[in-house]
Amino acid sequence: FNVPKAFNEPVKSYAPGSKEREDVLKAFKELYQSTVDIPLYIGGEQIKTGNTKKLFPPFDHQHHLGVYHTADKGLVEKAISSALEARQKWSEMAWEHRASIFLKAAELLAGPYRAKINAATMIAQGKTVHQAEIDSACEFIDFLRYNVQYMTEIYAQQPASSEGIWNRLEHRPLEGFVYAITPFNFTAISGNLPSCVALMGNVVVWKPAATQIYSANVIVEVFKKAGLPDGVINVVYGDSGMITDTILSNENFAGIHFTGSTGVFNDFWATIGKNIHKYKTYPRIVGETGGKDFVWAHPSSDAKEVATALSRGAFEYQGQKCSAASRAYIPSSIWNDVKKYVIEDLKTFKLGSPEDFTNFMSAVISESSFDKLAKAIDEAKASNEAEIITGGNYDKSKGWFIEPTVIVTTNPKYDTMERELFGPVLTIYVYEDAKWEESLTLVDETSTYALTGAIFSQDRYAIELATKKLVNAAGNFYINDKPTGAVVGQQPFGGARASGTNDKAGSVLNLLRWVSPRTIKETF
Ligand code: SER
Repeated sequence: FNVPKAFNEPVKSYAPGSKEREDVLKAFKELYQSTVDIPLYIGGEQIKTGNTKKLFPPFDHQHHLGVYHTADKGLVEKAISSALEARQKWSEMAWEHRASIFLKAAELLAGPYRAKINAATMIAQGKTVHQAEIDSACEFIDFLRYNVQYMTEIYAQQPASSEGIWNRLEHRPLEGFVYAITPFNFTAISGNLPSCVALMGNVVVWKPAATQIYSANVIVEVFKKAGLPDGVINVVYGDSGMITDTILSNENFAGIHFTGSTGVFNDFWATIGKNIHKYKTYPRIVGETGGKDFVWAHPSSDAKEVATALSRGAFEYQGQKCSAASRAYIPSSIWNDVKKYVIEDLKTFKLGSPEDFTNFMSAVISESSFDKLAKAIDEAKASNEAEIITGGNYDKSKGWFIEPTVIVTTNPKYDTMERELFGPVLTIYVYEDAKWEESLTLVDETSTYALTGAIFSQDRYAIELATKKLVNAAGNFYINDKPTGAVVGQQPFGGARASGTNDKAGSVLNLLRWVSPRTIKETF
């Protein structure tokens, strides 16, 4: 398998005077000043139904970005039949040709489409240029490149043969179509979920999150330009309940590739269970769901390092990464220093439009997210178990802006130590140094999730003990580093417990879910 060697796309700096800065600002302005009319994309056909919904940036909800068209049940059925029709040729296409399409998509994103996809992500999802760059450019490109390498590693897996007998594994795609449901918070995940499934020879019906359709439409453009045949990935927008019900009751439904909330994923399992007798094959159910990611510090840890991990890990992209720190356990001996550094750091974080590169944060994604966060902040203000040490203000007059907020609680099981908020609110529990071992039990038992977590210590025995005691507490476990920023090809990503099926995105383990191998024994 002589495929081009995968490598991580270097992160561009966007420093003043740089070409990339000029390009992305130009793309931002152009997109911002024009309006889009985003069609459904079914069987390679752009379909405008006239039933539209408005698009606006979360940091300026009065600014009209355009509309997207929504599908009715008939069009969702058409998306399924287009996928199945495309399957006939696609599933038989030699793997080199499938791989070439996605490698070409990676090069388009690295070059001519970089400014556009980053600008679209900045506008639609409220990411700063750096957050867009590490997501919609680098992480997405890395997924596309590494998946090709992982595919060949899977195809290389062959059983032993013996004299007069040739055994082989044929890594066929699944029989049917796969449903990809993608989140708003990473354009890279949105692009990866349908494309890695398609790379393995499958066909897909893809429903992006409504708040990401604007940048998803750029992904559609890139895949088309890269030569993806019609019908391999079909894109539908509209009523989630209707779309999901239509898909999950189809006999050819063969799998779901999901990133989103635990509640929605649980509903899928229930519906799939109810419909199980209808399907031709047992569907693959692959999902990354919620998180309540932790930072735990040992008394030996460096206060400044811990503070930096908290301010970056909890507040980059407004705390809306699935990997974002949202609860922390700090020993009392270093607390005063950690507190000082965190407050100093957060005071420098400006909020506003991503077009202004001096802003470190922007708005949260939606009004419902804003309302949930504002309510949690108000409850903390009123609680005698909680104190807000910095932030606590919010303003939705122009966009959904929430100040980076730190709650300190005297109750390690306080509501926001347990409940996922998905925003810029960090809750901290300060424990007595002597109780550091017990505090690990709290970390493990407080949340039902197990996505990411970080521990800080300079004491190797403490690191070893924490690593053991928290063995099931996080699918991505960081020692002396923040819990965000997993890199494809380096830290395969995903969690267990209520955080998902842990089929590590950006690894061979994920791609294995999208093949249904046939064992062939031939006797001579
Ligand atoms: N790479 C992201 C993170 O770890 C998740 O996709 O933050």
